[in-house]
Amino acid sequence: MRKATNGSQNRNTRRTFLKSTGALATGFYLAGAGSAPARGETLAVDGGPKAVTVSAGGATSWPHFGDEERKAVDAVVSSPGYGEIDAFEKDWKEHFQPPYCKAHMNGTSALISGLFGLNLPAGSEILVPSLDPWFGILPMRFFDLVPVFVDSKPRTMNFDLDDAKKRLTAKTRGIEVVHLFGLPCEMEAICDFAKEKGLVILEDCAHAHNASINGKYVGNWGQIGAFSCQGSKVLPAIEGGMANYENREYYERAATFGHYECPGRFPDDSKYRKYGTGLGMKLRMHPMGAALARCQLRKIDAQTEMERSQHHELNARLCQLPGIYEQAPGPGVKRVYWAGNHLFLDPAKAGMSRETAIKALSAEGVSISKFGYSVSHRDVAFREAEFWRHMPVIPDRLPGLEEIERTGISLPRFTRPVPELVDQYVKAFEKVWAHRGQLGKA
Ligand SMILES: Cc1ncc(COP(=O)(O)O)c(C=O)c1O
Repeated sequence: MRKATNGSQNRNTRRTFLKSTGALATGFYLAGAGSAPARGETLAVDGGPKAVTVSAGGATSWPHFGDEERKAVDAVVSSPGYGEIDAFEKDWKEHFQPPYCKAHMNGTSALISGLFGLNLPAGSEILVPSLDPWFGILPMRFFDLVPVFVDSKPRTMNFDLDDAKKRLTAKTRGIEVVHLFGLPCEMEAICDFAKEKGLVILEDCAHAHNASINGKYVGNWGQIGAFSCQGSKVLPAIEGGMANYENREYYERAATFGHYECPGRFPDDSKYRKYGTGLGMKLRMHPMGAALARCQLRKIDAQTEMERSQHHELNARLCQLPGIYEQAPGPGVKRVYWAGNHLFLDPAKAGMSRETAIKALSAEGVSISKFGYSVSHRDVAFREAEFWRHMPVIPDRLPGLEEIERTGISLPRFTRPVPELVDQYVKAFEKVWAHRGQLGKA
């Protein structure tokens, strides 16, 4: 069986980092708050030269489509048909090794089919993080499922299992996790808990194609894993989706929901074979999307590896600075990056506010902003009784999520190798940190 290439993140030790960057010699930015700025380095915000002079150019553009994709789409135009969908499913199965998979129109339809596929009784409660857009949560209402919003861990942004445990009731039947921005959740612990309590797991892997834990890809941990192939995603097809299924029952039920062409292809003994109509939806992936996805799948290992090592280099250096943290990968985790490189800034340790740091870094030429993302428990659609037979369970406070909102900062996802730019980003942070005593007083 093909495994994800081995899990270790090859973390730089602090010492190798210090050696490699020459920081032992200069050392200034590692000193406590109030350390003196390096001589001659006036902050750009005070009129000095910018630290970042290299243009990002196309280093943040995505998707990368070229001749290979053009030819693949052209071939579908020249010979219209659905063959690319079957071929995509075959390629996907070879790469990710799920027991079963089905291509869908998009990630949302993969999630909706998954919720149907799980076949849970009306009123079942599903533990789901609030820090997650609506795609896999709002459709729960179609199946009389009840979202129970759970907190997120302030240093990973992912599902907080300890908080979830407190929200368990006699009606809890499932967990829906999302591997946010490409960082896998702590699936071993979540799966153990689910097994102990008899819960099913739906993994929303929209951001995390090719991410793995101890060599096992995300999407293969729970009973069902749903992926988006929308144009910004790690495996982009402009629009498209895929789902992995742990067993034949989940696969056949979920596929029958939105693919009337499937039941006729199931084995004779399938209980879904009789539904030549499907079960009410039509969620077929567009074959041009499938053709694009196949091209991207051929390049996904090289692309995610390049991005992983580049962001690792950047983050390992930035996290040497007081008060800067990255989304912490657990042991054996190989993450990917989607929609940014999200970090945290603790103002008490940094000695200046997040706003002050962002202002100074922006002036240096760093593309940086406060972190912001969908928070579903505040969304009006989860609060109006006309949409729900069983009202969602909405907590008053989610402290972990609030901490993420207070401390999160977002840098770009670099989709091409840009070592000089990475170096300049580090220099910009170091320069601002060298002035943090003065900035902190302002
Ligand atoms: C976490 C998450 N899940 C699901 C989806 C839905 O995917 P799609 O846009 O392909 O329907 C998205 C889309 O951005 C997403 O961010």
